[in-house]
Order: sequence, then structure tokens, then C-alpha cells
Amino acid sequence: MTDEAHWDIRALQARIADGPQRIRYPAGSPDNLETEKYIEYLGRHLHNAGKNPADADVVVLGMTPEIRLALHEFGYGVTCVDNSDQAIELFRDWIPPAYRQRETIKRSDWTAYASTAGKSIDAFLGDGVLANFPDVGSCRDLLCALFQALTPGGVCIFRLTSLPSRYIELPSLSHEYIRQFRNNDLDPYEFGFAIRKFGFLDRAYDAKNFILNNQLVFELLREMHMNSKLSEEEYAATQRYQFYGPNLLMPRDKLKTLIAECGFQVETHRLNGRHWYDYYSFYVCSKRSPACTVDR
Ligand SMILES: C[S@@+](CC[C@H](N)C(=O)[O-])C[C@H]1O[C@@H](n2cnc3c(N)ncnc32)[C@H](O)[C@@H]1O
Repeated sequence: MTDEAHWDIRALQARIADGPQRIRYPAGSPDNLETEKYIEYLGRHLHNAGKNPADADVVVLGMTPEIRLALHEFGYGVTCVDNSDQAIELFRDWIPPAYRQRETIKRSDWTAYASTAGKSIDAFLGDGVLANFPDVGSCRDLLCALFQALTPGGVCIFRLTSLPSRYIELPSLSHEYIRQFRNNDLDPYEFGFAIRKFGFLDRAYDAKNFILNNQLVFELLREMHMNSKLSEEEYAATQRYQFYGPNLLMPRDKLKTLIAECGFQVETHRLNGRHWYDYYSFYVCSKRSPACTVDR
């Protein structure tokens, strides 16, 4: 199970750049290009499966407003599933009233929802969802439940972080990222997101269980700020991605194997132009085989 308490109002609001304008910070939330890619991969997949947007039942895991808005603009039937009342309240109204009326919101755990959905859903879309699990087993349970809930030929489209193989030696990259930011090689979003994920692998990452201890990451960042090793601007850039729960951060090949084990045919798409594309890619996971092969 994930710990819903970790997505508290502080973590949700930290990601918002401009509330009235409905703008969130990139990297932690999909930007325009990434949102377009969700729609492009979905449209291509459903077209090949002979399905029209209006007849497609698409489920968003989480309340990600950027994805919901784009899905509505293309005429998809949208259901969102989130286990946090605060996330639902905060983001419910980030889409126009006409779209809100057509949207279904379920307050539920994703695995529980998918386990009771039947084989009725054409697509699940989720931005960063698998990082929310505190161990590989519960992540596998979700993937198997999603596989079972999809119609034959259905698809899951995720943007997922993974550990690049060159980081397996667990270096401490915080100083390198600070140097790159001060040299204008990274913008504040690239810097803030990267240092939170990979700045302290040597101390905060459990390489056996693939778990990043964010509580410790944010303590280390606070310490660096107090000791004047991070400027105000640098510290503020890190706080946009605050999160105090554990994150599942698997090596790239192991993540792909895990998804494939649950029955999916996996295609990865790496975009170009932002630092986070080194470790944050799209995974288009198609239900082509008839069964999930995991023995649960
Ligand atoms: C989709 S994730 C990642 C954030 C994402 N990049 C975004 O666009 O905001 C965050 C959301 O997932 C929800 N969540 C996390 N684990 C969950 C679970 N097991 N079941 C249902 N909702 C969950 C949290 O409440 C939160 O609103």
C-alpha cells in the first residue's frame, strides 16, 4: 500500500507555480510537450485498436490536471482515481465546468479500484505513479491489477523515473548539480528535480530494495541551506518537489522487466531537450498477451 498521508496539502501546493493561472512547475508535473505526448501515444494506440476517443474509457491515476484537460479537449471519457481528499479538492476545479460535468472522480486506492473494475477500461494514464510505492511487491500488484482491468488491446501510459545505469555506483551528485546550476547548465527546474532524486544516492538510497528515503533527502537539503552551501534560490528550487514519503526508484532495465512480467509489451520513449529526460521517460505498456504471468 502507498501512504496517502505523504501527499499532504504542503506537497501538493509546493508544485503549484501560479494557482489562479493553473500553472504548475515542470518536471514534477507534465509540461505542454509531455502532455501532448500522452495524447499522441494514446491516440495512436487507440486508432490501431480501432477505437474512437468518444467510445474510449480512459482512467487517470491521480488528479493530474494537465492530462485531464487535454483528454477532455480530445473528447475522451475521463475518470480520475486518487486516494487523497486534499488532492481531489485542490484539483477538481482546474478544468472548465463543462468538462467537470462529464468527468467521474473516484476516491480510491489505485490497486483497489483496478481490482474491481472488470475488463472494461481502454487506457490508464499516470504521471509518475509507480514511484509512489514503498516496495516492488506493491508496485507489481498495481501493474497486475491494471493489466486485468484493461480491455484486450488496452494500454497504460506512464511517465516514470528510473535509475540510469551509470548511477549504480551511487555517487553523491549534489555538488555536481550545484556546479552545473551555477554554471547555467541546468535551469532551476532541472536542478531542483535532479538534486531531489539523485543528489544523495550514497546516503539516502537503499539499492537492495530500490527505495529513496525522501525524508532524509529533504533533511540533507535543509542542512546544506543552513550551512550556506545552498543559496536561497537553490533551496527554493528544491522545495518545489518536496515529498516526505519513500519513492520506488528502480534501475531502468529492472523497471522494464517488472512491467513486462505483469503481461505488458513495453515501449519506452525518451524525449529530448530537458535534463530530466535522462531518467524520466514515457512507458507505453500494451496489453497484447492474454494473461498476467505473475503468480500472486
Ligand atoms: C500521480 S502522483 C504524482 C504527481 C504527479 N506528477 C502530478 O501530476 O501531480 C500524485 C497523486 O497520486 C495520489 N496517489 C498516490 N498513491 C496513490 C494510490 N496508491 N492510490 C490512489 N492515489 C494515489 C496522491 O494522492 C497524489 O494526488
